[in-house]
Amino acid sequence: MYSEKVMDHFQHPRNVGEIENASGVGTVGNAKCGDIMRMYLDIDDNGVIQDCKFKTFGCGAAVATSSMATELVKGKTIQQALEVTNKAVMEALDGLPPVKVHCSLLAEEAIHAALWDYAEKHGIKIEGLKKPKSDIHEGEEEEGEDY
Ligand code: FES
Repeated sequence: MYSEKVMDHFQHPRNVGEIENASGVGTVGNAKCGDIMRMYLDIDDNGVIQDCKFKTFGCGAAVATSSMATELVKGKTIQQALEVTNKAVMEALDGLPPVKVHCSLLAEEAIHAALWDYAEKHGIKIEGLKKPKSDIHEGEEEEGEDY
């Protein structure tokens, strides 16, 4: 049912954790299942993503897609990071079963939410970035998050 890459990223997720004083943090929830993901970006003065970490309270497909998404955005510019869509992440993972496609949206939305947070903090506008719909933001810290 799952590709080898999905299983690999699920069992050995990359870049799990937090970044202290991150340039941008985005927290999103999946309306379909209630799963939650938080993405941390460290962006340098040239607008290049130096580091990216995530935490997910979610299913295996959400863990695998987040893990792959962090790998894909590291070293990229902000504009290039916007091209890391859920489709791009799924392709990099050699696909997901149709019922799990919605899980991959969390990673894309979390990246967008973190970029939005970065833009707000720096008073800039990122071309092509829309305000994330499901950004949970501060004050709604969830208990027991893991991964
Ligand atoms: Fe919730 Fe996959 S079932 S993100």
